[in-house]
Amino acid sequence: MTTPAGQPFDVVDLHSHLVPDVDDGTRTIAESIEALASLFAEGVRTAVTTPHLLVPHLPTEASIQRELDRQRRKFEELCHAVEGRDDLPVVHLGQEIWAPDAATARRVVRRTDVGLPGRCLLIEFGFELQGNHNDVVRETLDAGRQIVIAHVERYYYLPSHDPIEVMQTWQELGALLQVNVGSLTGHYRSSSPESERLAWQMVARGLVDILATDHHGPRRRGVSPNEALNALIARGELALAERAMGEIPGRVVRDDDLRHVSRGSEVVPIA
Ligand SMILES: [Fe+2]
Repeated sequence: MTTPAGQPFDVVDLHSHLVPDVDDGTRTIAESIEALASLFAEGVRTAVTTPHLLVPHLPTEASIQRELDRQRRKFEELCHAVEGRDDLPVVHLGQEIWAPDAATARRVVRRTDVGLPGRCLLIEFGFELQGNHNDVVRETLDAGRQIVIAHVERYYYLPSHDPIEVMQTWQELGALLQVNVGSLTGHYRSSSPESERLAWQMVARGLVDILATDHHGPRRRGVSPNEALNALIARGELALAERAMGEIPGRVVRDDDLRHVSRGSEVVPIA
């Protein structure tokens, strides 16, 4: 399998909403295939698609189970439709779990049918942060899982908090930080005005572990791994791009040892 001209490595995308008709992502199989084809054309060879699991809106264990079953059924329909296609990324199913507090996280973190492939969970805290959410990081790690915090640059941090300090604490506790590729190119300027500045500040401070698309299909066009890659190369950050778009998400999907990751020029122990 070849990568497009100029694409120096295979991209592994850990965050997208391409299971049809389960959340605010794609609505049809055709839309999902169109989005997957566009990702493939930009070098994505593995895509974990991660429907929202809105745990606070699922009051019982039975309702969580029903939602997971619904997502699994729709994912299997998609798999059936793309079977044998070698012009699309390999797809896996995960979830983007909304868990604003430890009690909410506790309801899902020990379920073996929840998470990205392997031991990692992709967790978002909700856009308006209510505190530092360190309790969710601890709860996830205490369950023997690894936490990938979704699009950290897009949150609205409390006015009394320095976002970079909050992010550093999450990493020190053992979390991996995920940034959306679109933030590096100003894609969320209207919805998250600080996202572009924060994303580049994170690049400069060595805080970006994983870059992912958070692709939602045709209703949110313009998300491009290639544009982010080119923006990083223009600033001399090809090594970071390779690590955050290829190496570390690849290790997550393979469930490789994640006890040490490269950050900036250092290899550091995590959780
Ligand atoms: Fe998402």
